[in-house]
Amino acid sequence: MPAVSANACAKLILLGEHAVVYGELALAIPFSALRARAAVEAWIGVPAGRIHIFARELDLDQEWSSLPDNNLIRNALLLVLSELGIERIPTCKLNLSTEIPIAAGLGASAALAVAVMRAFSAFLGHPLAPERLNALAFESETLMHGTPSGIDNTVVVYEQPILFEKLRGFEVINPCSDWHFLVADSGIKKATALTVSQLAQDYARNPLEIGAVIHDIGQLTLEGARALTQGDYAALGAALNANQELLSLLNLSCPELDTLIMAARAAGAGGAKLTGGGMGGHLLALVRPENIDQVRAALLEAGAPHVYHTVLKGAHSDG
Ligand code: MEV
Repeated sequence: MPAVSANACAKLILLGEHAVVYGELALAIPFSALRARAAVEAWIGVPAGRIHIFARELDLDQEWSSLPDNNLIRNALLLVLSELGIERIPTCKLNLSTEIPIAAGLGASAALAVAVMRAFSAFLGHPLAPERLNALAFESETLMHGTPSGIDNTVVVYEQPILFEKLRGFEVINPCSDWHFLVADSGIKKATALTVSQLAQDYARNPLEIGAVIHDIGQLTLEGARALTQGDYAALGAALNANQELLSLLNLSCPELDTLIMAARAAGAGGAKLTGGGMGGHLLALVRPENIDQVRAALLEAGAPHVYHTVLKGAHSDG
């Protein structure tokens, strides 16, 4: 049996993270340049039931039976077996690699789970349809994060720009022109589960004030989605900046992110904000092509260890 490979992209939340957990709209795009990759091959001559996992970036070189119950990869494999009703586990080797920084706001956990589930289900002869894959990836996110909205797994599975609402699902959106973003690392790792539970505690203590901010973030997301589809650069930039102010009010930013965000704006970015769970992780800055070098240089100068450039292609793409 030949090795079966699959992969999945990272993601960027443009607007609405955290508020989406409370039922507001959020806007997310695939970050296709960074990917998680999985390859599964038969492990010949070894009794059934053994799966060896090698994943350098996750520090794994062991059999799945020795992984803790809450391990992401172990859970992803179990979810596929249970979905396909397979009890006799085929002996195989799973090789996993990822370019997506972990605990950094870019959807690494969703991408790893989706890559593993794609490769493993295909290896078993039953590649999962996107809806089932998305449902299983949501279960995986729930095991990892507790109360995910579902936006990360959805944008990773469909790899399209989406406007997402927890109860209603998602709508693919079509930008009319290309949008350029720089994505910079604050250098601080922060698990999303932690930031989500921090906000939940604050919300429980102060429902009126926090609820109002969350509602305002939902409104900004709507404005931003309109700006994105209509090609209104100034309005999208303003929505990003306003969203950042509201995330700061919710104590989801941090001094390192603030410094980088200010540097990007001062160097000519149309708007900048944290992306994903916050309190560390990455930020994104909206840039015009002619400003990319200047804003990138400012971010590096202000201390960003990495800066990526990504383009969201529009219907009237520059190429
Ligand atoms: C994390 O990428 C996005 C959050 O809104 C959590 C979620 O939606 O599950 C912070």
